[in-house]
Amino acid sequence: MTYPRKHLLAIEGLEPPHIADLLDLAESYALLNRSGKTQRDLLKGRTLINLFFEDSTRTRTSFELAGKRLGADVINMSVSTSSVNKGETLLDTASTLNAMHCDLLVVRHAQSGAPSLLSQKVDAAVINAGDGTHEHPTQALLDALTIRRHKGRLEGLIVAICGDIAHSRVARSNMHLLTTMGSRVRVVGPPTLIPAEAARLGVEVFHDMKAGLAGADVVMMLRLQRERMSGGMVPSAREFFRFYGLDAEKLAFAKPDSIVMHPGPMNRGVEIESAIADHPTRSVIGEQVEMGVACRMAVLDMLSRQLPRNR
Ligand code: NCD
Repeated sequence: MTYPRKHLLAIEGLEPPHIADLLDLAESYALLNRSGKTQRDLLKGRTLINLFFEDSTRTRTSFELAGKRLGADVINMSVSTSSVNKGETLLDTASTLNAMHCDLLVVRHAQSGAPSLLSQKVDAAVINAGDGTHEHPTQALLDALTIRRHKGRLEGLIVAICGDIAHSRVARSNMHLLTTMGSRVRVVGPPTLIPAEAARLGVEVFHDMKAGLAGADVVMMLRLQRERMSGGMVPSAREFFRFYGLDAEKLAFAKPDSIVMHPGPMNRGVEIESAIADHPTRSVIGEQVEMGVACRMAVLDMLSRQLPRNR
């Protein structure tokens, strides 16, 4: 098994074998989870802290379940960022965590770069669970695993990532992962929601859904992240749905066996129509959540191999 780092802060910089090894390990955890067996001795005696400075249900519970399935002691800490100077809070938090002998630290923060800053101050292995508009590496891993299970590969697939690309850490991690693994990535959205760096990342840009979805193997929809928008970047939810919301008519331009994904939480009727989100054969949104637990188990397993024993 190759994983070159102490932390998982980003997908950017990982090479194909590192990603492939993580996905293979996650696949084995997916099978273990489905069999109903557990492996509770792997992280026995280890402390996992979920440190969330931003709201989350899916990601936090997924890490909690992953940690518990591997036998770790799991603690959830939700912190409000409104009151104090953020830099100071982070560093104070770091010394608290060190005093608690935390082994694995899962961090979500509204500021890009916060998990990286913490990783320089804590003894624990740090996992980025989403930082600002920067990255959300475990989401990209679970998306890739879900795609691989349906399509058997990542290489050569056409993946259309649609909607609010600019504010999405999910899109950024996915662009890095999928281009690294040889997929052909398209981003589809209004010009105001496509980041300037798209060209540098080696993805094709489309402003029209039908052109962007034509021949796609995977259609990944993203939430409109209004909390990160600084003004009127989209006219109205109704208007957005008309041009960029996924419905049967637009999906018909993708391959007939294409799969539909969404990281959640969904705005039904804004970026995706309910009938598509709940489609029994095309939607894999439920499976993404299932694969999330397996991927997080793989990441915890991989990082714990490099931790010193008996700290
Ligand atoms: C995403 C996130 O928080 O970055 N959600 C998630 O992790 N399941 C996407 C989003 O908030 O839209």
